[in-house]
Parts: sequence; C-alpha cells; structure tokens
Amino acid sequence: MKYTAIRGMEDILPQDMPKWQRIESLARKHLESYGCAEIRTPIVEETSLFVRGIGDGTDIVTKEMYTFSDRKGRSLTLRPEGTASVVRAFIEHSLQVKLPEARLYYLGPMFRSERPQKGRQRQFHQIGVEVIGMNSPYADAEVIIQLSRMLELFGLKDFMVKLNSLGCAGDKEKFAESLRAYFKGKEEALCDDCKTRITRNVLRILDCKKESCRALFGGAPDVSKQLCPACDKHFETLKKILTGMGIRFTVAKHLVRGLDYYTQTVFEVVHTGEGLGSQDALAAGGRYDNLVKDLGGPALGAVGYAIGVERVIMALGGAVESRPLVGIVTMGDAAAIAGIKLADELRRNIDIRVVTDIREASLKSQLRTADSYGAKAVLIIGDNELGKNVVCIRNMETKEQEDVARQTAIEAVKKLLGNKELKKAS
Ligand code: HAM
Repeated sequence: MKYTAIRGMEDILPQDMPKWQRIESLARKHLESYGCAEIRTPIVEETSLFVRGIGDGTDIVTKEMYTFSDRKGRSLTLRPEGTASVVRAFIEHSLQVKLPEARLYYLGPMFRSERPQKGRQRQFHQIGVEVIGMNSPYADAEVIIQLSRMLELFGLKDFMVKLNSLGCAGDKEKFAESLRAYFKGKEEALCDDCKTRITRNVLRILDCKKESCRALFGGAPDVSKQLCPACDKHFETLKKILTGMGIRFTVAKHLVRGLDYYTQTVFEVVHTGEGLGSQDALAAGGRYDNLVKDLGGPALGAVGYAIGVERVIMALGGAVESRPLVGIVTMGDAAAIAGIKLADELRRNIDIRVVTDIREASLKSQLRTADSYGAKAVLIIGDNELGKNVVCIRNMETKEQEDVARQTAIEAVKKLLGNKELKKAS
C-alpha cells in the first residue's frame, strides 16, 4: 500500500520552508512591535465551543468541521479558526486581570473540510490577532493598519481592504429583517441552501458564491445606511483614520463575513494582483463585541483578523534566499576531526549554514553532494593540507580553488561570500 497525504492537507517540503520561515519571523517581529504577545491554544476543542462561537447556521459549522468522538464519547473538533479558541483561553485563564487590553497573536494550522482547490486547503495556516478589551474605533484602525503594514512588509503591494459595518446586535437584527423582507418573494431564484437561510440565518445569503443568488444582491438593503447613531459614528471615525493613514480601502456594502460573531466593523483584504485566482482573500476579520460574554466571560469588546499564510506565499511567488551554505569535505580520520573543528568555528563566527560531509566518501562524490546542497564554497582538508597547516577553499560557482593558511580560513570564507551581512549577530 502506498500512503499519500490526506486530500487538501499538504506537506511543506524543505525547499519551500525558507518562504514560511521568512513570513513567520517577519510576522512575529512586526506583531511584537505593536505590543502583541503570542498565545498557543490546542488544535482540538470541544465541538460546542465552535458551534456557539462561530454560529450554528454558518457553512463552517454545518458543513466544514472535522468532528469526532474521543474514547469517552465527547464530541471534539479540529479547530476551523483561532478566534473562538483564543477567547476560550482568555476567559479560562482570566487574562483580563493581567492584560486588561490584551493584544494576542497566534500562528498555526486550521482545518476545514472544504472542496480543495487552488488557494483552498483542508489544512491551512493562519497568522491571527485578537485584541480584547477595547471598544473604540481606534482599536479597529490599529488592527487594519497593522495588517496592511504586515502585508507590505512581506512584499505584497497589490491588495485592497474591503470594509463594512454590520452595526450592533440591534442593528444586525434590523438589517436581518430588512433582508428577509427583500428576499421573500424571490425564493424561486435562490439556491436550496439560501432558501433555508431566509428563515435560519438570512445574513449568510450574502456569503453565497452561486451566481444565481449573487444576481439578486444588487437591490438588497445596504446595512451601513441603517446603523444606529453610535455605530454610525464608530464607522465614520474608523474610515477617517484609515483615510488619514493612507490605507487603501473601499466600502463593500454587502460584505457580511461567514462567521456569526461579528458586530460593527468587518473587513477582508483581497489580492488584486496575479497568482491567486478565485480564492483572493489574503486576510479577513472584524469586531466581535458579544463573543467574550456569549462564551461565559466578561462583557468585553474585541477585534481581530487572520491572514491565510498559503495565500500570501502564493501571491508572493518566487523563491527566498536562505543564508549561504558552506560545505566541509575531508579525507582521512585526522582531517575529519579538523573538519568538525573548522565547521564549529565557522558557525560560531559567521551567520552561515555549514554542512560537514560525514560519509567518508571520495573527494569527487563529496563535492557533488555539496553542489546538490547549493554550497557556495567548499573547504577541503586532507593529509596534505594538514601537513602544510592550510585548507583548500573552492568557489563552487567558478570551480576555482586555492590554499589558504588555516588561521585565515574564516576570513577567506567571508571574502568569498561577499562579507557584509555575514557578521554573526552578537
Ligand atoms: P476567515 O475569513 O474564515 O476568518 O479566514 C481568514 C483567512 O484565512 C482567509 O481570508 C483566508 O486567507 C484564510 N483561509 C480561510 N479558509 C481557508 C482555506 N480553506 N484554505 C486556505 N486559506 C484559508 C477567520 O478565520 C476569523 N477567525 C478571522 C478573525 C480573527 N476574525 C476576528 N478575529
């Protein structure tokens, strides 16, 4: 039997890892510069956390969760997103005591049983942020600015923030009523799912991807025109700050997002350049002022977002340069020990990768292997070199080589690799 990875769940291979590591380390540094602290929650939670948190009429809960019973018969689910888990952890550990204004971030895999296609996996990775305990539009602005700057830092230029406001719970209810009134009488044109959504969860009709349903959206009511004065002011302030900061956004009047917990601000960042196809949402989020209370915690407002890492990597395309690699090739026992010492010295002094060949193979074979690793330089040591107290340094691109005094080997490597960025950070 030949095993393969589960459909929609992909291996990330060593050759692709530099891109992932670059994104993850840029993200950590960037988020920490905003005072965000990392949180790691388990990948499995009780099913009811997601049903209550995300909403039992959503596609995620009705169709996409990986749910199973454990040996004790409890219903558990692989997390389809991070917000509900972070809020659960926040409440469980009373984080509001130590962190009254909590800025939390997380990185990791999420699981949704959607139909796999380009940019859509069943196991995918998010970088997420949840800011809990702040109700002002300045918090919404901060996370949208932070997200935009992070995407720029990754190297993305072609993206646009789509923005909307759903209003408070009362506004959402009024909006739902006006939507219900609008779609009543148009049932025939709606897909089967949307027909049941009219009574079950009418906002979700606006997430439907079917063309026949979308064709009706043009005349649907505009939620941001029905906001109560406080929610209207919140939305206006947010737009003013974003404009002042030069963040490119458009108000998308039918953006409702596919999770029930949102109130007021919702947003999505879409990629406008090449490379993503129909799955063009790089990141998305919004405010969820009732979730902490609904899950049994204090009444605290919150706002957050999550970035789809696979989509960012696809949108960026191209390869990422790793730190330069140097090979050590030795012949004979005495030289092997000298090689281990030299490798140790190189790693401790310069910021490079050093690979020592430990197979006791022929010189030719060792050089071929170093080439396949992508070594820029190889240091060769045999009895001859030991006798003369030199090492032979070989430029793998030009194939030129020369003997250098053993004590100048580090300098010679630095010179061959082009010096500057190689200094080891102290
Ligand atoms: P979401 O819109 O479901 O929101 O997901 C956020 C991002 O994750 C999407 O914009 C997309 O880039 C990526 N994503 C989602 N599903 C997939 C998939 N099947 N394959 C690849 N990438 C995917 C949330 O998850 C909310 N928890 C965001 C949030 C945080 N709202 C407030 N705080």
